[in-house]
Amino acid sequence: MQLTPFEKELLSGQHGRAARKAMEILDALGTIYHARRMVPVTSVQISGVSYANLGEAGLQFLTEMADGGGKTRALTTLNPAGMDIENWQGLGIDPDFARDQERVLHAFARMGVITTCSCTPYLSGNLPHFGEHIAWAESSAVCYANSVLGVCTNREGGPSALAAALTGLTPEYGFHLDENRLPTLTVRVNAQLHETHHFGALGKIMGEKFEQSGVKPVPYISGIPEASVECLKSFCASLATYGGNALFHMEGITPEAATLRPPDETLTIHQDEIEQAARSLTIASSSEVDFVSLGCPHLSIREIARLAELLEGKHVTKEFWITTARPTKQTADRMGYTKIIEDSGAKFATDTCCVVAPIKGRFNAMATDSAKACYYAYAKNRFKTVLKSFDEVVQEALK
Ligand code: F3S
Repeated sequence: MQLTPFEKELLSGQHGRAARKAMEILDALGTIYHARRMVPVTSVQISGVSYANLGEAGLQFLTEMADGGGKTRALTTLNPAGMDIENWQGLGIDPDFARDQERVLHAFARMGVITTCSCTPYLSGNLPHFGEHIAWAESSAVCYANSVLGVCTNREGGPSALAAALTGLTPEYGFHLDENRLPTLTVRVNAQLHETHHFGALGKIMGEKFEQSGVKPVPYISGIPEASVECLKSFCASLATYGGNALFHMEGITPEAATLRPPDETLTIHQDEIEQAARSLTIASSSEVDFVSLGCPHLSIREIARLAELLEGKHVTKEFWITTARPTKQTADRMGYTKIIEDSGAKFATDTCCVVAPIKGRFNAMATDSAKACYYAYAKNRFKTVLKSFDEVVQEALK
């Protein structure tokens, strides 16, 4: 790797212990992936924030980086934490866990990381523009950034994202290079997709087919005339979960698609496959559902407005968590949506999500509109799942 004089200074420790450690991580990564140089990044998103995942060893590493003078050199935000920072008691989180989670957030804040605690940084002010180089962790956000925003990022892990934040750099390999962003397979969607759970089902079926084939293509998707931000975030989360994909192009929708030629090799997805994929994520009956959750990825303000409309004057009969970013919740507060939603008995689980919160075994079956949430609810928390449309999920909470 060719390093600039400033990068060499970072590596030699002239800018502090934390910057040296960060540069060592990036230098090693760049060497492994045969990067020729570093590129400056304008934005970073760090994952691995929940104390449930980090543990004491992870917290120790963060504390050492903060003690070593670590300071962000690019706009840096955080993935969901293991709890709602203001209302963890209301969600039944253990006080010991809460204390440790606060230590984690404090360590990040000391380094200048903005503790948004959301997997949709692009809805909360961390919105890079087309063509920029960034270093994001969080698979759904990475897929959204590369594909929908047209920025360039690899799928970083927690340590490499932190290293990028503390240096303002990332090694130039993978999706930072134009040749790796070209589509390698056309996916023709011969189905009507209107709602978030349809897009989640599409991500599942595509991801599973790619996994079975043993190759991870960059898909060029045609046949989808329109897709909202909410549908795209659902699709990105699902495709990244089931296929590990970090980039796709969607004809007429994503920015790079217009400049690209669809590959000849084509895979067609039919309506019945979408419906079958959605059905396969319903492994509980409605009567078994004791937990309802919306907000994987975190809800947008438009989704919260719809939720308030559906819940106004009604009362939920099940534990119902709404996961979103603190800035979105604050907008909901101002608009009166929060009061309507909380009056119904539903709860905001701001700053966190049902996968990173320590709730394993607390519920039997979860209803959601998110194919990604279904995957982790079962794999991590052992909840059975019911996948429905957004509005149907709300009805499930009211039954
Ligand atoms: Fe976000 Fe948690 Fe889902 S991080 S994408 S809400 S699993």
